[in-house]
Amino acid sequence: MKTLVIGTGGREHALALALSRDPQVTEVHAAPGNPGIAEVATLHQVDPMDGAAVAALATTIGADLVVIGPEAPLVAGVADDVRAAGIACFGPSREAAQLEGSKAFAKQVMAGADVPTGMAHVCETAEQVQDALDAFGPPYVVKDDALAAGKGVVVTDDRQAAIDHAAACDRVVIEEFLDGPEVSLFAITDGETVLPLQPAQDFKRALDGDGGPNTGGMGAYTPLDWTPDDLVAEVSRRVLVPTVQEMARRGTPFQGLLYAGLALTSRGVRVIEFNARFGDPETQSILALLRTPLSALLYGAAIGGLAEVGLPQWASSSSVTVVVAAEGYPEDPRKGDVIDGLDEVAALDGVDVIHAGTALEDGKLVTSGGRVLSVTAVGADLAEARRRAYAGVDLIHIRGSHHRTDIALAAEHGQEQERIEP
Ligand code: AMP
Ligand code: GLY
Repeated sequence: MKTLVIGTGGREHALALALSRDPQVTEVHAAPGNPGIAEVATLHQVDPMDGAAVAALATTIGADLVVIGPEAPLVAGVADDVRAAGIACFGPSREAAQLEGSKAFAKQVMAGADVPTGMAHVCETAEQVQDALDAFGPPYVVKDDALAAGKGVVVTDDRQAAIDHAAACDRVVIEEFLDGPEVSLFAITDGETVLPLQPAQDFKRALDGDGGPNTGGMGAYTPLDWTPDDLVAEVSRRVLVPTVQEMARRGTPFQGLLYAGLALTSRGVRVIEFNARFGDPETQSILALLRTPLSALLYGAAIGGLAEVGLPQWASSSSVTVVVAAEGYPEDPRKGDVIDGLDEVAALDGVDVIHAGTALEDGKLVTSGGRVLSVTAVGADLAEARRRAYAGVDLIHIRGSHHRTDIALAAEHGQEQERIEP
């Protein structure tokens, strides 16, 4: 099978790497990719937001399957353009991607499907905002209704900061604060059959101990031994299946990756958000343990044959991913710093370097984005996976870079990751 991965980040590198190791895959192409993806795929310079160009590239290379990584092209309808060209595409239609593209739409779908989520008000005026903030009280949760590349949510005790964030957005969703640890549960679906993957946990704050600002994600691990045994079954029954059924009932079936961001609150599981694509960096850890050929799952979802693929199979080991970020990330990441040490990391057992914000300049690998790269390691248990991941991180040198030192630390000791209130 010939595959084409669309996107440039760590998630796309992890997808391309897994496809390159899949015996059913003969060719991996990517557009536009990055220098890490170039090691496992043939790159093409095509704008991921240009649906006609993506469809034309897929036709030219004779792709059997196109995998769209990021949310922006999905929300823009690029998957529709690929399918219109008669090529199987993993990723929801423009209309179905609204599950991520509009937080208000996601709330409507959850209400229609009776999916447990936080109470929320959709607000368009300053008066509505103030009423909603007072109705819930602190900590305040204010979410930009539209896609905001991870910067749309403010959680704060400061009422004025909540009002200011709302004023900077056209439309906001103001939500009750959900306590308890967060879990990411991904499911692959063809619009009917829903196959949950192994749960993972993401570390959203920039600094150790969940301090500092929110980021796109500073690390991840799987499995989550501290969660209840029936978590996946319960989330399938109460969240994933009803959501997929509701989308089909509305005439906009969801096909691709349904990402449920969950809070395990004292009152039970609640959906914090849906995304319409693989999460980054959870995907790096999850795919490192997947034993089922990835192409079978993605192609099955794309053409509507997932029931025959069956439940994904997993290695019984553990996987930890640590993100190395550029100086100044997330506020103002510096670009152009030289990246050293990757050859030494490549010699380590069970360790992969996944590129995100990297570029080649005069033959040298340099930083080109906030989350520069991540190190994903597999080990017999979380302790070994952590040791290996951090051994890799320690070999990498980038001026001013930073990373969290506590990824999967609590879980290594069998404890849940505590969530610190703002
Ligand atoms: P989102 O973009 O919706 O995933 O939100 C980003 C982050 O903000 C989440 O991962 C949570 O850590 C936090 N967050 C979002 N909604 C809530 C909520 N209702 N209660 C508490 N924290 C939240
Ligand atoms: N890891 C969070 C996200 O991909 O949205």
